[in-house]
Amino acid sequence: MSQGKRVGIVGAGNVGATVAYSLAMLGSCHEIILRDNKIDVAKGKALDMSQAASAVRSHTVVSVAEEMSDLVDCDVVVVTAGSPRLPGMSRDDLLMINAKITKDVIQGIAKYSPNAIVIMVSNPLDAMTYVALKESGFDRSRVIGMAGILDSSRMAAFIQEKLGYGGGQIRASVMGGHGDDMVPLPRYSTVAGVPLTDVLTHDEIDEIVDRTRHGGAEIVGYLKTGSAYYAPAKSTAIMVDAILKDTKQIHPCAVCLEGEYGYSDVVSGVPVMLGAKGAEKIIEVTLDEQENAMFAQSCASVQTLIDTLNKNNFFEGK
Ligand code: LAC
Repeated sequence: MSQGKRVGIVGAGNVGATVAYSLAMLGSCHEIILRDNKIDVAKGKALDMSQAASAVRSHTVVSVAEEMSDLVDCDVVVVTAGSPRLPGMSRDDLLMINAKITKDVIQGIAKYSPNAIVIMVSNPLDAMTYVALKESGFDRSRVIGMAGILDSSRMAAFIQEKLGYGGGQIRASVMGGHGDDMVPLPRYSTVAGVPLTDVLTHDEIDEIVDRTRHGGAEIVGYLKTGSAYYAPAKSTAIMVDAILKDTKQIHPCAVCLEGEYGYSDVVSGVPVMLGAKGAEKIIEVTLDEQENAMFAQSCASVQTLIDTLNKNNFFEGK
């Protein structure tokens, strides 16, 4: 972190640009570099954001990398590049298209920002995090996927909507992959410390769990032309900020498991402690039989995607 905190963002579409905007407004870093194939669009957004930063007296400057080789010496690089998820398309449909894009981007990051911590946002999230880990050769602590903060925030918003109170006081917990079989954990969710079961019926909780699992698709259904971006971007900015400030706070993030929860060589969402070195510690939460079964199902779904990549010889030569 000796260079003065530089954040690279690959993909300046809705998610990437909103991550940049959030960070610029927070003044989390000195410099944000946007990288996108649409160079003029990226330049326009970078100028616009630098001016917004001036408006709030933030020191952050936003610039554009015309080539991957301009994305040098970043402390953190956020990867949002990929084909967007369109209506009717599952996250998994994107697998092979986005794996190829991720491979190219990660090879550039490994070359030009070899000490960076990579935050993956592209879908299917867990598989792309796995691709990024393998293609970068980085330690797993430096390749982290964004999903758990987003999914937990969605669950918290749905709890608030159902209750009609408690905004800002809800701690919702979601583990597992960022797919339809993610694992919302009502048992570890509270409203100002009050267990969910004390304020909601089982049916209401089941409804919230189901809506959380399909929270991304619900928004795609409205937007029609792409996926959500305010909550995904804010969730990503929270991770970048935690790393740059070395907060050592716990957030649910996607990481490659190496024995934790009984799994190895598969990426899943678990609580991790974020700090200057990335995912510095993985926390193992006690799961009951049902929660364990759901987590197993979610890991199996991610494993299927990794198996598909392997069957297509995606990692050949690795
Ligand atoms: C979502 C997409 C970004 O969950 O995966 O909104």
